[in-house]
Amino acid sequence: MSLKQESRIREKVYFNIEAIRKLDPLHADDKLAKLPEMNKKGDVAALVNVLQYLTKKYAEQKIELPEANLAAMRDIGIVLGSLKRHGVEPIAAVPEVEQQLLDLGYATDMIPRDTVHHYTTWNPLGLRRRKYTFDEQEGWLQDAVAFVFPSLSASLEISEALSKMETRDVRFGPTVDMLTHASRVMVEAIESVTAKVSPIFFAQTLRPYFEEITVGGRTYLGPAAAQSPLWLIHLCVWASDRNQPDYQSFLLESIEYSLPPWRAFYLRHTLKPSMVSRITEDYKTIDSQLMEGLIRSTTSLTELLTTLRQFRARHIGMAHRAYSEEVRLYDHGSGGAPVALLKQILDLTRENEKLMRNASDFNRHRDNQLKTNANSLVSSL
Ligand code: HEM
Repeated sequence: MSLKQESRIREKVYFNIEAIRKLDPLHADDKLAKLPEMNKKGDVAALVNVLQYLTKKYAEQKIELPEANLAAMRDIGIVLGSLKRHGVEPIAAVPEVEQQLLDLGYATDMIPRDTVHHYTTWNPLGLRRRKYTFDEQEGWLQDAVAFVFPSLSASLEISEALSKMETRDVRFGPTVDMLTHASRVMVEAIESVTAKVSPIFFAQTLRPYFEEITVGGRTYLGPAAAQSPLWLIHLCVWASDRNQPDYQSFLLESIEYSLPPWRAFYLRHTLKPSMVSRITEDYKTIDSQLMEGLIRSTTSLTELLTTLRQFRARHIGMAHRAYSEEVRLYDHGSGGAPVALLKQILDLTRENEKLMRNASDFNRHRDNQLKTNANSLVSSL
């Protein structure tokens, strides 16, 4: 899949969530309602049967609505993950699904299998929700990821606006505050998951459904929360030019699982200086009497980094518990990386937060000092 700038389908389709959720293009509602039972029994024959039914339905109709293609991939996808969970490569079991996955990937301009967006955001709510298991913890996890989607999507628009603004511009700080507000949903989401989803349930029951499958001669990871676009916020805040090789490779590998407008976002921003670097550079050149705007921007960016660090710290706690030696079934997360990567991201976030905090404290102090000196000069005249 290429990282091209223009998508084949209109951007707004991916955000037309309610329409996608409502659709049942392969008439799969009844069949998929029985999926948790089949998974519980490990009934591979029944799962193969459902996949054959879906491929037949797909072949019979000509789906034209882009939203319906996303819904069709969602419905086929949940069966792919289920079969893999029971040790069966879906394409080996139902070869005719392969070309359909490639066609659906092409039509939706996404990878030729389901992603976290199909599994959470584009998944219907209530009784029609597609699930691997009967356990309500699975629903809590789906809710948490679906909950962050609108704010994270909006936050990319905010980051875009910030990339065009001077850091000393009076609008920069308040716009960063909007980004901080949007990022807080990540903290709320991980707090809700920590409270409601047990690491053992995630590690031993759910995680096996997210294994990779082979399509068109290459492997694709299953739906992973790591595909939520938080890392695109990082890219603009610090990661475009203050990253380390492991996280850089993770970003490069994750990008193809994201939406076309986000892939284009990545291309636009990956070579630009990050906000942290821009602010650091600006302190070197700014007239020392005109730094109020820059200090305001730095304070706001420090707040944003604090929020991102809070998410990371809570998230890594959950990840450590789910991937501890006694509990885990896999060494790697469903996004393809080890927990050690999360420690690296946490450290980098902390480092940049500290840099910004020191810069705003130091320069605020310097600014106050300059004002005091100026006042004493005026009163001595
Ligand atoms: C039981 C719950 C969870 C566990 C055990 C877990 C574990 C992990 C692990 C091991 C990684 C490393 C990359 C990989 O997936 O291979 C990761 C990455 C990530 N996870 Fe989670 N996660 C959980 C829930 C969540 C939730 C609910 C969200 C978002 C709402 C989330 C967002 C992310 C993001 C954005 C990354 C990418 C790396 C980053 O930018 O920090 N995770 N997770």
